[in-house]
Amino acid sequence: MAGKITLTMIKPDAVAAGHTGKIIDMIIAAGFKVQAMKLTKLSKEKAEEFYAIHKERPFFGQLVAFMTQGPIVAAVLEKDNAVADFRKLVGATNPANADPGTIRKLYATDIERNAVHGSDSDDNAQIEASFHFSGVERF
Ligand code: RTP
Ligand code: MG
Repeated sequence: MAGKITLTMIKPDAVAAGHTGKIIDMIIAAGFKVQAMKLTKLSKEKAEEFYAIHKERPFFGQLVAFMTQGPIVAAVLEKDNAVADFRKLVGATNPANADPGTIRKLYATDIERNAVHGSDSDDNAQIEASFHFSGVERF
């Protein structure tokens, strides 16, 4: 399955704003199959673990606070070339630089509150999928 999945989180800003349904529609219209999906909320400890790669970055504390402020929707998405194709659909980290028609251009507020997460490599997609879902939760 390597290369065929990515992990997304619809972030607390987009869930709170009521954009979940529209974002899921865009994902499915772009050809992704949903293997797993749930509404959940990250604890401080789980958010710190998920974003451990960024722990030395100046924005780490703010990022953890943001990602724990409310529920998220986590999902495992399947498609050929899933990681790269999903990042293309999501757009640049800073919505000011995101291409027209991307999820972040449409729904992100700023570089931090940017609506969605997408895995950055096949290896991290596997790690992140296992972080959120057990085997019996994936189809
Ligand atoms: P993501 O991991 O959420 O898909 O986003 P990304 O790859 O485009 O960006 P990354 O560099 O991995 O950063 C992770 C998340 O940290 C927040 N951030 N804040 N205040 C800032 O300068 C800043 N920079 C990044 C964003 O929520 C970003 O998505
Ligand atoms: Mg990233």
